[in-house]
Amino acid sequence: MLRLSLRFILPLLVVLALLATAVVPLVDVLLSRWSLRDLDLRSSWIAGQVQDREEATGFLTSRSRSAILDYFNRTIQDERLYAIGFFGNERASSHRTTTFPRELLDAHDRLANDQPEQVLESSGGALHVSVHPVRHGDEELGKLVLVHDMSFITRRGDETKKYVFYFFLILGAVISLLTVATAQLSLRGWLAGMRALLRGEMLLRPPASAVSPELKPLVKDLRALVRELDTERRARDESQVTWSPQALRRILHDDLSGDEVLTVSNRQPYIHRYHDGQIDVQVPASGLVTALEPVMRACSGTWIAHGNGSGDRAVVDEKDGVAVPPEDPCYRVRRVWLTDAEESGYYYGFANEGLWPLCHIAHTRPIFRTSDWNHYETVNRRFADAVRDEAHTADPVVLVQDYHFGLLPRLIFERIPAATIITFWHIPWPNPEAFGICPWREELLEGLLGSSILGFHTRFHCNNFIDTVDRYLEARIDRETSVISFKGKQTAVNHYPISIEWPVRWLRTQESVETARTAIRARNGMHDDLCVGVGVDRLDYTKGIIERFLAIERLLELEPSWVGKFAFVQIAAPSRTKIDQYQRFEVEVRALAERINERFGVDGYVPIRLLVEHHEPEQVFEYYRGCDVCIVSSLHDGMNLVAKEFVAAREDERGVLILSQFTGAARELPEALMVNPYNVDQFAAALHVALTMSPREQRDRMRSMRGLIQEFNVYRWAGKMLIDAARMRQRRRVLGENGDGNGRLRGLVIS
Ligand code: F6P
Repeated sequence: MLRLSLRFILPLLVVLALLATAVVPLVDVLLSRWSLRDLDLRSSWIAGQVQDREEATGFLTSRSRSAILDYFNRTIQDERLYAIGFFGNERASSHRTTTFPRELLDAHDRLANDQPEQVLESSGGALHVSVHPVRHGDEELGKLVLVHDMSFITRRGDETKKYVFYFFLILGAVISLLTVATAQLSLRGWLAGMRALLRGEMLLRPPASAVSPELKPLVKDLRALVRELDTERRARDESQVTWSPQALRRILHDDLSGDEVLTVSNRQPYIHRYHDGQIDVQVPASGLVTALEPVMRACSGTWIAHGNGSGDRAVVDEKDGVAVPPEDPCYRVRRVWLTDAEESGYYYGFANEGLWPLCHIAHTRPIFRTSDWNHYETVNRRFADAVRDEAHTADPVVLVQDYHFGLLPRLIFERIPAATIITFWHIPWPNPEAFGICPWREELLEGLLGSSILGFHTRFHCNNFIDTVDRYLEARIDRETSVISFKGKQTAVNHYPISIEWPVRWLRTQESVETARTAIRARNGMHDDLCVGVGVDRLDYTKGIIERFLAIERLLELEPSWVGKFAFVQIAAPSRTKIDQYQRFEVEVRALAERINERFGVDGYVPIRLLVEHHEPEQVFEYYRGCDVCIVSSLHDGMNLVAKEFVAAREDERGVLILSQFTGAARELPEALMVNPYNVDQFAAALHVALTMSPREQRDRMRSMRGLIQEFNVYRWAGKMLIDAARMRQRRRVLGENGDGNGRLRGLVIS
C-alpha cells in the first residue's frame, strides 16, 4: 500500500516541482515578452492612425484644441491605452489627456531621444510608453506619446499561470495514475510468474514469451538446479539399484504406488496351439517377448496382444483373458481377435511389408497399400478400445510396443487422458528422407506423439525421429531436453537400450556346457571335435543370413584347412511366411546353403545345417552353450537380443561373438568381433580369428560383456522408463494437475 501511495505521490511531486522551478518563470517571461510586442504593435498602429489623419486633414495643426482632446479621449476608451499626449513644435501646440502621468511631462524629451519604446514604473504601476514622431509633409510637427497601462499583463499572467498550474496538476495526476496502474499490472504479472515459479511451471518448459523478463535469470538458475538434482538422483538410481525383478517391483510399489500397468503388443508371450489334437504352449521367437516377459512377471498387470494361436480361444475366460505363465501364473494376457483380412492388412501388409522394410536399411522396397493402411487404423482403434476396457484406474501406465501401433498412443490418450503412455519402438528409425516416402508419415508421427515417453534403443534413432518430426510436422522441439510439444501434448524422446533378464531363466534347466557341446553335435550328425558356429534368427531378410553364408563359403575357400573342421548351424524360425518377400528369401537361403554344402561337403561333412523350424528357448540356449562361435550379422537391427542371450548363456566364459556393426547391440558390446556383413572378406577373416582365438582372450572378452549385460539388463530397461514415468506422474500430482495427461507435465527433463 505504502509502495502504491509512493508511486502516486512521487510523480505528482516531481510535476509540481517542475512547475515551480521552470514552468512558471518561463510562462512569466514569455507572456511579458509577447505582451510588450503586442503593445508595441498597438502603439505603432494608433500612431499610424493619427499620422494618417494629420496627413489627410492637417488634424493637429488645423483643429481646435477641444476637437483634438475629444479625439484623444475617445481613443483612450480602449481599456489598455491609458493616456495620449502630443508635444508639438512651434507650429503645432501640445495636447494631452488628463490621464497623462505627471512624471512623464518632464521626461518626454529624454524618452523621445533615448528609446522610442520603454517601460516606466510610475506610482500607479508599470506603464508602457512609446514615442512616435508626427509629420506633415517633410516637416516634423511633434511627438505623439502613447501610454499603455501594463496592469493587464499582470492580470493576463496571473490568469495564464492559473491555467498552466491546473493543467500541470491534472497532467501530474494522470501520469501518477498511469504509473500506479502499470505498476499494478506488472506486479500482478510478476506475482503470477512468481506463483508459477513456485509451483514449478517455469522450471518445466514454457514458451519463452511466457516468462517475464525479470524472472528469466531466476528461472534459468532454478532449471539448472532441478536438472542437477535430476542428474544426481539418476546417478543414485544407477549406483544403488541392482537391477532385478525385486528392484522393478520396488519401483512399481514405491515410485508408482502400485499403479496399474498395461502392456500392448502385437505378439503375445504365449501362444496356445492345437498340436496332435492337444493344446500346447509355444514361446514365440521374438526379441520383444524375450525382453518384456520377465518385466511382466515382475510387474503383474495385463498384457494385451493379438490372439493368433489356433488354441487361443479355447483357453481364455469370458473376458478373453488367460493367466500366464502356464507353469506359474502371475499376470494376465488379454487377447484381441482379428479377422484374417485385418491380420493380413495390418500385420502382414502395413506393418511388415510397409514399415518393416521402411525402417530397416536392408534394401528391400517397402510396399504401401491404402487397404492395408485402413486395416492398420482399424486394428489400432481396436487395441485402444481394449486398453480402455482393461484399465481399472483413470491413470494407468500403458506400455505400447513397436511399429504395429504407430497410431495407438494418441488413440489411448484420447480415451484415457490421464494415462502415462510409454511407447517403445523396437526397430530402427530411419532418417527423414527415408521415412518421408511413407504416404501416411504425418499420421504416424502424430500418433506416436500421443505418448508421454517415446523410447528407442539408441540416441541415434531418437535423433532421427526428432529430425523427422522437425521435417514433417509443425511441432515445438526442445533438442536440449529431447522434448517434443505437439497439439498440446508433450513427448519426451529418450533412448533405453533393451536387454535380457539376468540371470536368464532358461539356464536353470540347462545341462553343463560339455553336455551341450556333445548334444548339439550329436543332434546334427557332427563329430565331437568339430568347431561349431551358430546363428539364431527369424528367417528375415534383415538378419544378414545370406551374407553370413557367403562369409562361411569364403572362409572355406581362403582357409581350406577348415573344411571338415568347422560347421555352422543356422536356426531359422519361420516368420511372416505369408509375405512374398519372406517366401522368396527362404528359397534363396535354402539354395545358398545347398550350394555351399554341395561345394564343400564331403564324407558326411555338411558345412551348413539350416534348421527352418521353431525352437523353444531351452533348445536355443543349448546351442548357445554348445557352440564355439555365435554369429549375429544383421544388415540393420534395432538392438538384437540374440547377441546378449549368447553372452548370458556362456557361464564358462568361452565362445566368441561375431557381431554386425549395424546392430544396436554393437554399441554396447565392443568386445565382440565386429564385422560389416556386406564385406565378405572381412567377415570371413573375422570367422577365422574367432575360430583361432585363445581361451584366455575369449574369457577376457566374454567376462567384460557379461559384466555389462548383467548390469544393463532388461529390468534396468523397464525400470528406467518406469522411473521416468513415475517422475512425470509425481510432478503432475504435486502440481495439482487435474488429469488431462498433459498440462504441467510439459517440458519434463529426462535424458
Ligand atoms: O524385434 C523386432 C520385432 O518386430 C519384434 O518387435 C517382434 O516381436 C519380433 O521382431 C518378431 O516379429 P514378429 O512378431 O512379426 O514375429
